[in-house]
Amino acid sequence: MRVAFVGKGGAGKSSLAGTFARVLAATGQNVLAVDSDPLPGMAFSLGVKQTDAGLPDEAVEEYEDEGRRRYRLRAGLTGKGVAEQYAVHGPDGVHFIQLGKARGPRWDNARQHFAYQRVLDDLPDDGWSVVGDLPGGTRQPFLTWGRFAETFLVVVEPTSASLLTGRRLARLAGTATAPRVMAVANKVRERHDAERVAEGTGLGLLGLVPLDPMLDEADRLGRAVLDHDPAGATATAVRLLVDVLRTETEPV
Ligand SMILES: Nc1ncnc2c1ncn2[C@@H]1O[C@H](COP(=O)(O)OP(=O)(O)O)[C@@H](O)[C@H]1O
Ligand SMILES: [Mg+2]
Repeated sequence: MRVAFVGKGGAGKSSLAGTFARVLAATGQNVLAVDSDPLPGMAFSLGVKQTDAGLPDEAVEEYEDEGRRRYRLRAGLTGKGVAEQYAVHGPDGVHFIQLGKARGPRWDNARQHFAYQRVLDDLPDDGWSVVGDLPGGTRQPFLTWGRFAETFLVVVEPTSASLLTGRRLARLAGTATAPRVMAVANKVRERHDAERVAEGTGLGLLGLVPLDPMLDEADRLGRAVLDHDPAGATATAVRLLVDVLRTETEPV
């Protein structure tokens, strides 16, 4: 399964992507969770130590192409090799890699950017599931970071701005190679909220996640909601998302 979470900043991409990745890994699949947002997020919902580090320099080599400086994975290193050697091993057997985090105005992530693209291009052939936490925004999720995805999940809150963003993202996703784009209604207070998300975005709804004070509390404590409230509303809702997507994408 290769899933990319997209949506407006604050919609809940990181919270849901990290939780989703762990729940999927707990079913026994090899799961690589990839945080490609240059701002922090997914480490918290996965419950792994937050650092700024991306791939180490030794994993990436520089080369020249028609006089232009380019980067690629070190010779002989595959996506699987990166997942095995360099990923952080997290709870439930999930593996985690991230783009190095932005530190200041001179921060340059070109090395990382190209090396990660290589990893994402390789992994589908290596038997790994990939769950991506993508940056907010328009072009990047679909044209670069989301290239690996079979399914885009647009995380949408039932607010006017988030609904409009979801609708725009749904259209932009039409430019990507992913065959499937679905909405996840997040911070749902009442049944009608989920209908608003489906109508407002024009997307099929994979499922919904309720507004969950325990998720907010977990975030304040810097803990994964799966550790803070393992049987709670968010964990239960995300397990259902994983189940539905698994039955739809995998032969039974
Ligand atoms: N279902 C939910 N119920 C309550 N709060 C939520 C829920 N989903 C996300 N949040 C809160 O919304 C904020 C933004 O979530 P986050 O996952 O960081 O969004 P994004 O990655 O899309 O920017 C966080 O404070 C998080 O705790
Ligand atoms: Mg985020």
